Amino acid sequence: MMLHIPKVLNAEQLRAVRAKLEAAPWVDGRISAGYQGARVKDNRQLPEDGQLARELADLILGALERNPLFISGTLPNRVYPPMFNRYENGMTFGDHVDNGIRMLPGSGLKIRTDVSATLFLNPPEDYDGGELRIEDTYGSQSVKLPAGDLIVYPASSVHRVTPVTRGARLASFFWVQSMVRDDAQRRLLFDLDQAVQRLTATGADASALLRLTGSYHNLLRMWGET
Ligand code: NI
Repeated sequence: MMLHIPKVLNAEQLRAVRAKLEAAPWVDGRISAGYQGARVKDNRQLPEDGQLARELADLILGALERNPLFISGTLPNRVYPPMFNRYENGMTFGDHVDNGIRMLPGSGLKIRTDVSATLFLNPPEDYDGGELRIEDTYGSQSVKLPAGDLIVYPASSVHRVTPVTRGARLASFFWVQSMVRDDAQRRLLFDLDQAVQRLTATGADASALLRLTGSYHNLLRMWGET
């Protein structure tokens, strides 16, 4: 399931993040790519172990923890600390699939990448190109969102970033290990959760709501892992 989550960061947070990224020590993005990815990747990234990267990652993780749509749509078990990239001067990232398992930096813990996420940090008017193209069962989806908006999509899908031909594209990217590994099951739970919330808000029959809410939690119990 592909899900657009608007306004994960507010205008003030975006200004602070962008100001810090202006003076950031960008390095070649191939440092974090796997064997296949490195051949098609041409961008800049912040080194993961730097003080600035950690500070900005914490800000985003804090925003994600408070975002009900992110929680409902990804059912996060572990979230990889957000990383940062910059594309300009024709930079691009060709077709690739993200690594299935990643080591969480500095912990020895591993994370299974069920969901990939891109958080757009500057407005689409700032650059030409730089679209995230995701191949899914309905064909190729093209994604270029307002600053502060997040797209989440199955990490199993082939995706790319088209060349940035004017200006610069700033984004954060990360992965989620979900409590529910299967994308179709996650989607079902998301739809059920959204329907229950809507019925609650519109004052539906309480005993029917209780049964539906119970079904949600019992499916989560059946499919979830912690
Ligand atoms: Ni990728």
